[in-house]
Amino acid sequence: MMKLRTVVIPVAGLGTRFLPATKTMPKEMLPVVDKPLIQYAVEEAWAAGMERIVFITGRGKKILEDHFDHSPELEETLTARGKLDLLAEAKSTIPAAAGNLLFTRQNRPLGLGHAVWCGRNVVGDEPFAVILPDDLIDVADGEPVLRQMARQFEQRQSSIVAVMPVDSDQTNKYGIVAPLDKELDTRSEANRCFQVTGLVEKPLAAAAPSNLAVIGRYILTPEIFNYLERRHQGVGGEIQLTDAIAGLLEQQSVFAFRFRGIRYDCGDKVGFQMANTALSLQCPQLRERLLPFLRDLVASQG
Ligand code: UTP
Repeated sequence: MMKLRTVVIPVAGLGTRFLPATKTMPKEMLPVVDKPLIQYAVEEAWAAGMERIVFITGRGKKILEDHFDHSPELEETLTARGKLDLLAEAKSTIPAAAGNLLFTRQNRPLGLGHAVWCGRNVVGDEPFAVILPDDLIDVADGEPVLRQMARQFEQRQSSIVAVMPVDSDQTNKYGIVAPLDKELDTRSEANRCFQVTGLVEKPLAAAAPSNLAVIGRYILTPEIFNYLERRHQGVGGEIQLTDAIAGLLEQQSVFAFRFRGIRYDCGDKVGFQMANTALSLQCPQLRERLLPFLRDLVASQG
């Protein structure tokens, strides 16, 4: 029985879609409401019962490490001013046990697959999860997505990729899974988790084997490192994680899991604004002022 206890969070990308904001600030520090994207990812990992988080960082990403540490000057000032609620917020990012956050570097951003491979020595010979922090998934009061997936992993003991349905004109933006059972009704509740035979990278609708797109949550068995080791350059000249998963399929079963939740692509300007709007409206104090503003704004746009 393989136990899942490690999450890899790659944060070494350049975030070019958010320039100039990301020229010196990591994309993963962009805030949605009042928390940076990276914090949502870390909270999801802890909520799934993970014991250690491996960050794949790069140059210019040091403030990500500092975000999860004490800030003595800030803490002293807030204590002196009696702002204990803010003090609690500032300290909330610090892990319960020291030493559970591990950092390793990807020296050059050669792609997501390469970033994950850079974690091989820290992860070791055991299964691990991957969270891409730009894919923020709102589950409202429901179960965090990685926990949903970890429960599936307990049963299946195989690699699992998170998928969501996309419109037919969007299939060419994602990796699309091919279900093993072509007749399977993947919309039914009973078939949320199903075996796949392949992953097709960015197909046009006519060539797409389904409408289910892989997004940024994975649980992978350690054999994936053998495929990443090959450093095969895929789409855009990058070492792609989906190519390695397609390789893994030759050797092992791989499952797709249609998670419960709404995913926002916060690496994209529109997705990021959507996440901020949707999550702000969930905060009663913000909603009170934001909603009338949005209504007026929409009305004024005709
Ligand atoms: P993206 O595909 O969004 O790439 O990465 P990016 O470079 O960050 O952003 P754009 O496309 O230039 O705007 C998804 C996740 O994978 C990490 C990123 O940091 C992000 O968390 N990543 C990507 C790496 O760690 N290394 C890479 O070489 C590429």
